[in-house]
Amino acid sequence: MAEQPGSALNPVPFPDLFRLDGRVALVTGGAGLLGRRYCEALLQAGARVVIGDVDGAGAEALAAELDTERALGLKLDVTNEASVNGATQRAVQRFKRLDILVNNAALTVRGGSERLSPADYFAPFESYKRDVWQRAVDVNLTGMLLCAQAAGRQMLLQDPPGGVMVNISSTYGVVAPDQRVYDGVRSPYADATFNTPVSYAVTKTAVLGLTRYLATYWGKNNIRVNALTPHGVYDNHDDAFVRNFVYRSPLGRMARNDEYRGALLFLVSDASSYMTGANLIVDGGWTAW
Ligand SMILES: NC(=O)c1ccc[n+]([C@@H]2O[C@H](COP(=O)([O-])OP(=O)(O)OC[C@H]3O[C@@H](n4cnc5c(N)ncnc54)[C@H](O)[C@@H]3O)[C@@H](O)[C@H]2O)c1
Repeated sequence: MAEQPGSALNPVPFPDLFRLDGRVALVTGGAGLLGRRYCEALLQAGARVVIGDVDGAGAEALAAELDTERALGLKLDVTNEASVNGATQRAVQRFKRLDILVNNAALTVRGGSERLSPADYFAPFESYKRDVWQRAVDVNLTGMLLCAQAAGRQMLLQDPPGGVMVNISSTYGVVAPDQRVYDGVRSPYADATFNTPVSYAVTKTAVLGLTRYLATYWGKNNIRVNALTPHGVYDNHDDAFVRNFVYRSPLGRMARNDEYRGALLFLVSDASSYMTGANLIVDGGWTAW
């Protein structure tokens, strides 16, 4: 039988398999809680990193804090085509290529340029406003599509062609939210209850479909596309919420905000070179029962 291409006699030694020296990454929503951790990890693995966020000042400050040479912070609105194309161009101007796209930006009440009203975002399904739903579709799904288009065009053009994309989903894109974890929970918002809204769960489900589509579409072009599915990160939540969550969680705790770095590095590096169209679930066992 003919030897398959790539069946190297001298495979890349571990742990170099996870190194990203010479590679360039763009992280959308990079100034947020988890985005920041991804940027740190990518830099530690040797990549040059463009931190794009609608909070441009936050992105610039983070780049200055992390690495003035290898990190570039810029304002990026993933819902705006001109902004997406401009950010991609600036990444290539500064670092000459683009190898990695981390599609991480999402509409949350925490981030974003315009404050999203918790009362609107967490509204009951029966009265959920169409414009809030649309904003979530725009950021969580259409924004991912626009970033994948711009990054994909660059990845196809460059020498050698190819790259890796990671689309960030959520366990609530895999299973429906267990609404019971919100029972008896004191909301951190004066005028809103706390829950997982339909706009979030459904757009995160669609992210998995987009991932599979792009993986099969670009498979022959050496562009791998996978999803990473994180679960709830502890962020000063109400005690009753943590109690309910922990009871429901096989590992018996919420995640720390640094616990998705390893999975991200796996997906963007050669460690996952035969993986595309997959969804890596890192959820403390939440979806196992
Ligand atoms: N934190 C969790 O518990 C958790 C769990 C599962 C999945 N996730 C997913 O992880 C990702 C990061 O979440 P996070 O907790 O860091 O949220 P976050 O709110 O801290 O960060 C999101 C970032 O996206 C940015 N953003 C919003 N709209 C944007 C736009 N139009 N263009 C560019 N940037 C925009 C925000 O400014 C913010 O910095 C999201 O996709 C989220 O759905 C988070």
